[in-house]
Amino acid sequence: MGEVIISDANEFDLPQIYEIERTSFPTPYPEGLLRAYLFIAEGLYLVAREDGQIKGYCIGLIQYRHRGHVISIATKVDSRRKGIGSMLLNEMENRFQILGSKYSYLEVDYKNIDAISFYRKHGYIVVGLKRNYYGRNRHALIMIKPLPSTRVLES
Ligand SMILES: CC(C)(COP(=O)(O)OP(=O)(O)OC[C@H]1O[C@@H](n2cnc3c(N)ncnc32)[C@H](O)[C@@H]1OP(=O)(O)O)[C@@H](O)C(=O)NCCC(=O)NCCS
Repeated sequence: MGEVIISDANEFDLPQIYEIERTSFPTPYPEGLLRAYLFIAEGLYLVAREDGQIKGYCIGLIQYRHRGHVISIATKVDSRRKGIGSMLLNEMENRFQILGSKYSYLEVDYKNIDAISFYRKHGYIVVGLKRNYYGRNRHALIMIKPLPSTRVLES
């Protein structure tokens, strides 16, 4: 494996991001939505690049000023279990924290055992269930992880 670099996504990355999306989810986001997030999630749209190729991406949003929402994360099928998803999630959490988020929040398909294991490994805990969130009988678990405060205490 070459050096993997996490950086901000740009529009030239979209075809490779969409290819990862299409091969990772049963109901992928349309390419147009992934493109729109470039503007909506500025500064919170990350890609993992190795030798110029996109190996994964992660999109986040800040909600209610204090909640970082992981909108989507996926790594290329043949690049999984190499730590790339962790690099993306760690950087997203860092950015959430810098922007003042107190916790990271996400929804995950309750049958997506791989992703649930991944999030548990990263310290996320299940705090709720959204019934039929992804469609009929496709429920979502809500998982969160508290983030340490970066505020400097004033004396
Ligand atoms: C979830 C996903 C992003 C993880 O990416 P990744 O690059 O494979 O993650 P990492 O290599 O950093 O995994 C870190 C740890 O998470 C856990 N983990 C990751 N994938 C796992 C799996 N398939 N089964 C069990 N545990 C898993 C392991 O503890 C792993 O550490 P280890 O390999 O040393 O055992 C990737 O599997 C993926 O793209 N899945 C399809 C899209 C998806 O479901 N996204 C989440 C939507 S909510």
